Amino acid sequence: MAKRIVTIDGPAGVGKSTMAKQLARELAIPYLDTGAMFRAIAWKLGEGSWEWDEARLDEALASFDFSLSGVGEDSVLALNGVPIGAEIRTEEVGMWASNVATLPVIRSFLKTAQQSLGERFSLVAEGRDMGTVIFPDATHKFFLDATVEERARRRYRQLQEMGKDADLELLKEQIAKRDDQDRNRAVAPLKAADDAVTIDTTTLTIPDVFQALVDGVQR
Ligand code: C5P
Repeated sequence: MAKRIVTIDGPAGVGKSTMAKQLARELAIPYLDTGAMFRAIAWKLGEGSWEWDEARLDEALASFDFSLSGVGEDSVLALNGVPIGAEIRTEEVGMWASNVATLPVIRSFLKTAQQSLGERFSLVAEGRDMGTVIFPDATHKFFLDATVEERARRRYRQLQEMGKDADLELLKEQIAKRDDQDRNRAVAPLKAADDAVTIDTTTLTIPDVFQALVDGVQR
């Protein structure tokens, strides 16, 4: 079958990962979580990394190698051969990721890594700039959106289900702050590609959104 790239962009907590995994399983192709790449780099560099000078960053980046294996929800993204784990999945690391994501040197490094995975594999790729910058010629492009209240509620329920403490108001604040930084940065800001299909998921169920994506890729 011909190679295809499906992009799913959107703000924090909108359900991109859930949808990208399900769609990748349906299409029997790998799923690429590009947020996990920014998170893993932020995690490795440590909290103060965005104050680093370019030479030190270049040196650190040269030691990073991302690889991808498996398909659907069994896709495994690894950094230097080690699968990226749950330690990056906190809102705090999300904010570190958003901070390092403003740096052109990091975006340019990950652009090369993401595009080279796209040359090797068909992908469902999710992030902030998949349809606009990384894969402008993608086969299908989607932009998922939802109100910040609804996205905070989803995150809150997710944390509760995992038995973790959660504060709805704090989550709302954190998500709004991260979105604001992601939408307003100079390089590759969060926005829908002109040719993306935008789906407002605020009042939709997961099966509804999945169906809309499947209908979209069959068109
Ligand atoms: O999607 P996730 O919440 O894991 O992304 C973490 C952060 O990484 C985002 O808030 C954003 O700043 C950055 N990111 C990005 N471009 C992408 C994916 C993520 O700038 N393609």
